[in-house]
Amino acid sequence: MSTTISENLKSEVKNLNFYYGDVHVLKNNNLPIARRKVTALIGPSGCGKTTFLRCFNRMHDLYPHNRYEGEIILYPDGINIISPKIDPIEIRMQISMVFQKPNPFPKSIYENVAYGLRVRGINKRHILDEKVEKSLRGAALWDEVKDRLHKPAFDLSGGQQQRLCIARALATDPRILLFDEPTSALDPTATSKIEELIIELKKEVTIIIVTHNMQQAARVSDYTAFMYIGELIEFGKTDMIFTAPAQKLTEEYITGRFG
Ligand SMILES: Nc1ncnc2c1ncn2[C@@H]1O[C@H](COP(=O)(O)OP(=O)(O)OP(=O)(O)O)[C@@H](O)[C@H]1O
Ligand SMILES: [Mg+2]
Repeated sequence: MSTTISENLKSEVKNLNFYYGDVHVLKNNNLPIARRKVTALIGPSGCGKTTFLRCFNRMHDLYPHNRYEGEIILYPDGINIISPKIDPIEIRMQISMVFQKPNPFPKSIYENVAYGLRVRGINKRHILDEKVEKSLRGAALWDEVKDRLHKPAFDLSGGQQQRLCIARALATDPRILLFDEPTSALDPTATSKIEELIIELKKEVTIIIVTHNMQQAARVSDYTAFMYIGELIEFGKTDMIFTAPAQKLTEEYITGRFG
């Protein structure tokens, strides 16, 4: 599989293996992640997409029998994200994740966005106000919530809650934003808002998105990687993967002949 690109790299996955106890799920994955671009990860259910994404912010460290091998280099500093020497909590502050189902905290809209800043010890009102507004604007939610910032986040619609989760993720200026099927619980209108937002966000932040929706991958991503049973089968510019895939498996998947 070709893994070289001419872009400025934000990250590089090198010989990544991942094990849930004895179960070897990710097999020698190699992947470049271009800076300020959207990389989509596609593949059939159970192939390891979520497992792959969760390596980037060390979510697997929450369970003792999980094990990583290899490297995920983060540029420009060149640290290996999955090295035991690197503090997973520090990584989670820098690499934020948006999940399949919106998961706001049982707090106000304002406090959801301010949360990560407060954890970092930022408590000055004017700084929080400024950051909360900037993040909500960044998530294309400000106009809808500016008059009810102190109302519960649960009062928002599903699509608004998902944009709130994006605002929460943006508040700490993440270096990479991870999306795991961010629109699968949303209707078409809310979905297209999130897709427009992703395209807007990549001006500032590097994005990796897992999606089951081929049209979505084609619409929002610059690069696409196809994964099959824990292996990265093919990677390339999204238009090439969708119009002229090199591998038969990729073609079968994107044309809906399996999975
Ligand atoms: N905690 C766990 N312990 C053991 N095996 C696991 C665990 N979590 C996931 N797996 C297995 O790892 C493999 C990859 O799962 P993963 O959730 O990464 O797939 P996925 O590509 O995200 O699937 P989907 O598209 O359905 O979300 C599957 O075989 C799954 O059963
Ligand atoms: Mg998944």
